[in-house]
Amino acid sequence: AAAEKGGWSSFMAKEVAEQPEAVANTIRGRIRGDRVVIPELDGLDDLFSGINRVIITACGTAAYSAMVGKYAIEQWARVPVEVELAHEFRYRDPVIGAETLVVSISQSGETMDTLMAVKYARERGARTLSVCNTQGATIPRESDAVVYTHAGPEVAVASTKAFSAQITALLLLGLHMGRVRGVLASAASEVAELQSLPEKVAHVLAEENEHVSQLAGWMADTRSVLFLGRHVGYPIALEGALKLKEISYIHAEGFAAGELKHGPIALIEPGQPVFVIVPSPRHSALIHSKVVSNIQEIRARGARVIVVAEEGDAAVLPYADEVIRIPLASPLFESVLAVVPLQIFAMALATARGLDVDQPRNLAKSVTVE
Ligand code: G6P
Repeated sequence: AAAEKGGWSSFMAKEVAEQPEAVANTIRGRIRGDRVVIPELDGLDDLFSGINRVIITACGTAAYSAMVGKYAIEQWARVPVEVELAHEFRYRDPVIGAETLVVSISQSGETMDTLMAVKYARERGARTLSVCNTQGATIPRESDAVVYTHAGPEVAVASTKAFSAQITALLLLGLHMGRVRGVLASAASEVAELQSLPEKVAHVLAEENEHVSQLAGWMADTRSVLFLGRHVGYPIALEGALKLKEISYIHAEGFAAGELKHGPIALIEPGQPVFVIVPSPRHSALIHSKVVSNIQEIRARGARVIVVAEEGDAAVLPYADEVIRIPLASPLFESVLAVVPLQIFAMALATARGLDVDQPRNLAKSVTVE
């Protein structure tokens, strides 16, 4: 097994480091000029043109990529999107039919709840498309169409490169759908952002790995960590908290920053570590200013604030105890960059606590039972 890890201390460390290729391989062959064209969906325009609603269904980490996918598909394809956990979707009586596209997301393609949700959707006459990392797995076989992520095999229980590849695939799907539905004239700037994404992920890994690992080492005795974000920073906050729970067994929660006043702020006491995902001030000035006021609110109550912010964003400096930098990107693309330091943090903290990051207690890589 040591050989398979190729010199890395764990599969998770290897898989986190493989994210630039996971993203690049997922994009490869799906860009033509300044447009996104997914060859697997050739001849399947009907999947997207006659629908009035999209439901994205998944479990675990995949369900957080789904939340980013919702924002992307709504922005570019102008069709309403809901995200629903597969086990909630299939045990109620959802309103679906021929005009619903049910998109499932699964790294393994074998998660029982997600599979049953897809079968249920088909029985109800919905169209189905799966986003999957495993060629020929059960969920893609049960779906009308599949868009594969090309992250390569993921061994560590906690998902990392599959997650960034899922977001990438959903960005591609949103742009593909926007074109097919005739609502997205040009995607030149989005295509340029996609093409620069692998390089930017590599940059975060190179620049922040040591800093974030050191930070995690100092925090090895921490008992609780909170994560806040807005827009796609919200699902990234949820994912950051999930990574920490999964492998370091530390209490962690992610919140939409706008919910602070509705409860979470009561948790803030002096010394409470809080990660805040800060969107680009250049691309989203309004959301940025809202997040900065959230930071001020928690800082005033003694929180230890660790921000993940764009390079050059000086507005966060007066209120941050630690600043983790990510390159400039527009919000949807930024999600792929912001998650990387959170993965590194969880991994380094688990390691500092002497835990097995690849095989956390009580968890399985693929939950194929109910
Ligand atoms: C398990 C894994 C998670 C994963 C989830 C969904 O809980 O431990 O890492 O996110 O299943 O798996 P899937 O293969 O459907 O993406």
